[in-house]
Amino acid sequence: MAYEAKFRVWRGDDSDGELRDYLVEVNEGEVVLDIIHRLQATQTPDLAVRWNCKAGKCGSCSAEINGRPRLLCMTRMSTFTEDETVTVTPMRTFPVVRDLVTDVSFNYTKAREVPSFAPPPGVAPGEYRMLQVDVERSQEFRKCIECFLCQNTCHVVRDHEENKENFAGPRYLMRVAELEMHPLDSADRVAAAQDEHGLGFCNITKCCSEVCPEHIAITDNALIPMKERVADRKYDPIVWLGDKLFRR
Ligand code: SF4
Ligand code: F3S
Ligand code: FES
Repeated sequence: MAYEAKFRVWRGDDSDGELRDYLVEVNEGEVVLDIIHRLQATQTPDLAVRWNCKAGKCGSCSAEINGRPRLLCMTRMSTFTEDETVTVTPMRTFPVVRDLVTDVSFNYTKAREVPSFAPPPGVAPGEYRMLQVDVERSQEFRKCIECFLCQNTCHVVRDHEENKENFAGPRYLMRVAELEMHPLDSADRVAAAQDEHGLGFCNITKCCSEVCPEHIAITDNALIPMKERVADRKYDPIVWLGDKLFRR
């Protein structure tokens, strides 16, 4: 049955903004993005929202709904009661471009800082061989749709602009871990994870994993194993001596 929902949507740009109230029709089976589109079609044609697939696969429609980071296209209206006010705000960690659209270029900067896959020299494409268990580990990380909800949620940068320069965020620390654990990657990424990508900032609160729409176990399967490798390197006396002698 259709009903009128109370929506509160953040409107503004990087200099100023406010929450504005709307009453808008909701039909059975709709998601929050449908309601935002109805607002655009009927009341607020200039409301800015980024979206693309409406299927939870492009990672474009990330925002915060009642304070929780979510994909607009994957949040069913049936999540809320009919008399509940649904508040939609842009991701808080990134600068607002307009309304619900944020500038996520921080993430692309961090992506570029991770050196790419480095296969051993002399192995041609097609000659790579991997165990199934290694394939599956990479596949979990490769489910990432780059929605940046984890990056938006992590407290290290959420209200701490000053940490952004030195912290890659969970998505890109996961990329470092993926490559470090890849059996065919010949680069040593352990020291860089700690010293350049800011792994030490992470105190494994797991908030990143909780909001991931792909249900990737970012903390358990990427960040903690990476921290273990850093600790092994640091506290293994033979490795420590090698570091001292050969400055790895
Ligand atoms: Fe989004 Fe999950 Fe990828 Fe983070 S790891 S960017 S939450 S899909
Ligand atoms: Fe941040 Fe996730 Fe670590 S939320 S503190 S990167 S476990
Ligand atoms: Fe593509 Fe929501 S529109 S994930």
